[in-house]
Amino acid sequence: MSISAPFRKKDNPGSSLFQVWLGWSLGFFLVAALFGLAMRYFTVGELPAYIDYKNLLHTHSHVALLGWGYLTTSAALVYFFVPDQQKQKSYYPLVVLAILANLGMVLSFPVQGYGTYSIAASVLHMLVSFAFAFKFWKDIRKQPSSDATQLAACSVLWMVVSSLGLLSIGPVGSLMGRLHPMFFISIQWFLHFQLNGWFVYAIFSILAFRLAQKGKSLSLCNWDWAILHGSLFLSFSLAVSWSTPIPGLLYINALAVVLQLIAYIRILRPVWSDLVSEENKTWIERLLLLGIIFLFAKALVQSILILTPVAVIAYTIRMYVIGFIHLIMLGAMTFTISSVLLQKSLFSNSFLAKTGWMILVSGFVLTELLLFGQGTLLWIKAGFIPSFYILLFLASALLPLGLSLITIAQIFNIQSTFKINSILNSNQTMKKSLTLAVGATLLLFASCGGGDGSSSTSAPSSTEAEAPKAADPNGVGEIKDVAISEEIDDGMADKGKAIMDMKCTACHQFNDKRLVGPGFQGVTNRRRPEWIMNMITNVEVMLDKDPVAQALLEECLTRMPNQNISLADARNILEYLRKNDLEKAGEKDGAI
Ligand code: HEC
Repeated sequence: MSISAPFRKKDNPGSSLFQVWLGWSLGFFLVAALFGLAMRYFTVGELPAYIDYKNLLHTHSHVALLGWGYLTTSAALVYFFVPDQQKQKSYYPLVVLAILANLGMVLSFPVQGYGTYSIAASVLHMLVSFAFAFKFWKDIRKQPSSDATQLAACSVLWMVVSSLGLLSIGPVGSLMGRLHPMFFISIQWFLHFQLNGWFVYAIFSILAFRLAQKGKSLSLCNWDWAILHGSLFLSFSLAVSWSTPIPGLLYINALAVVLQLIAYIRILRPVWSDLVSEENKTWIERLLLLGIIFLFAKALVQSILILTPVAVIAYTIRMYVIGFIHLIMLGAMTFTISSVLLQKSLFSNSFLAKTGWMILVSGFVLTELLLFGQGTLLWIKAGFIPSFYILLFLASALLPLGLSLITIAQIFNIQSTFKINSILNSNQTMKKSLTLAVGATLLLFASCGGGDGSSSTSAPSSTEAEAPKAADPNGVGEIKDVAISEEIDDGMADKGKAIMDMKCTACHQFNDKRLVGPGFQGVTNRRRPEWIMNMITNVEVMLDKDPVAQALLEECLTRMPNQNISLADARNILEYLRKNDLEKAGEKDGAI
């Protein structure tokens, strides 16, 4: 059997507008990839001092999730589950607003980080996504119920549920402070339900739809649904355990990842066997197969976390965390949803585009191998792959390269479609909604800009209020007095360096540039040796009680994890930090 009827390329007059919609999402994908590449450049070369790593990260993650992820997934859901063309058009005002919100984020996050305009743009996006969810929910309820429609309905439901995390960030931040574990749990809630709920269910729904078009079905029973939803909720326990180490949580997660694996197998097996049975597979079908493999790999990777010691350590190896998020967004979501859209010619499938997709896949696979490979090497204390950061940077450069080709191909495609079917009435709908959207956005920005700029960003933090209490320069913890001699003990410093390569370099560099945490250069000139060792061995308490550590946390917005470093190892690390300062800053122990 060749490609079945609904998936044969055919001209749908409404499709030109979907091509524009998806053209924008590709544009945001490209922007996200460029910001990601700039972040990787931090470990390779020098960027001008006014470029802030954290702001790049905010821009990258917001535009990747809310630009590329949201726009593409919502386009696919509307295209497949709202068949009526008139109804499809009624979504365009929401699309235009979402595009404007993303443009607002692209312009504001790099400059101000979390600030008035970037928060206004994120709030606009959230409101638009709620309106979308509401509208889509109403429309899909009118369709005959099937596994596919139910999965799609759940997908938008999880999208709304994920936003509860975002909504609580504001109140939690101002009532409990940004240092409170609830603040981190709110952020994790958002990410968890976005990645594992909204995107994964949307992928499932589209795969189920594709299967139904061929007269086959997933035939999910009540148990399957219970396992699928249950594993989604229970696996959130892992994220909670990171900020609040309650012992039982890791066992709940272990159960959840096993259930999840079962649910994914139940859903993906019929899809897989249908796909592999197709003869003469095109490159697009192969891309779809690849996307499904990545989705399954995600569940497999998570199921390794039944080993609870692994669950504890995996989170502290930042290369794993980044590799994992990319596995869902780049591997699973991007390749599955894009290939069904490619089959419908909503994404250009020209030779140029095909080349772009191939480059994108290679960039993704190479960066994943590097991240997971190096993460594992650090774990088993095997050091670094030679020129690791340069290799990672080069592999990452493939992503924006591929995306540029795909985006250019899309623009050509849109131009030719518009030339062929100059049904310009639809164009007018676009114009009308654009005017409407610009008006609404200006209004929103005006009302936010008028207020006190700081109101939404930084409610006076508890640390500032307590500041008068003189801080102990030794920090908080059992280390009260460290004996150091003028000479550096190279043996100790080497041991310290080996531990840091494994456990610290994912977040800290040895120069003066901040990555996730501050650069180490000059640290012994700013902090006393006791403070440094307390920070390394007693980090939770330091972050809760020590004003200097709290100020750093406010700045970095990431809690440094406890890495179970022994006192002896902490002493060795201190020795290497002194050596590093002598070499890089020309001076050590300046804070004593
Ligand atoms: C997951 C990221 C992460 C890892 C891994 C990590 N840190 Fe940190 N570190 C931070 C952050 C972020 C801060 C700033 C305080 C905060 O926000 O928690 C910090 C702060 C520090 C400081 C204070 C720096 C200063 O300028 O005062 C020291 C010292 C430090 N870390 C040492 C270490 C050591 C040693 C390791 C490895 C054993 C390590 N860190 C691993 C994220 C990390």
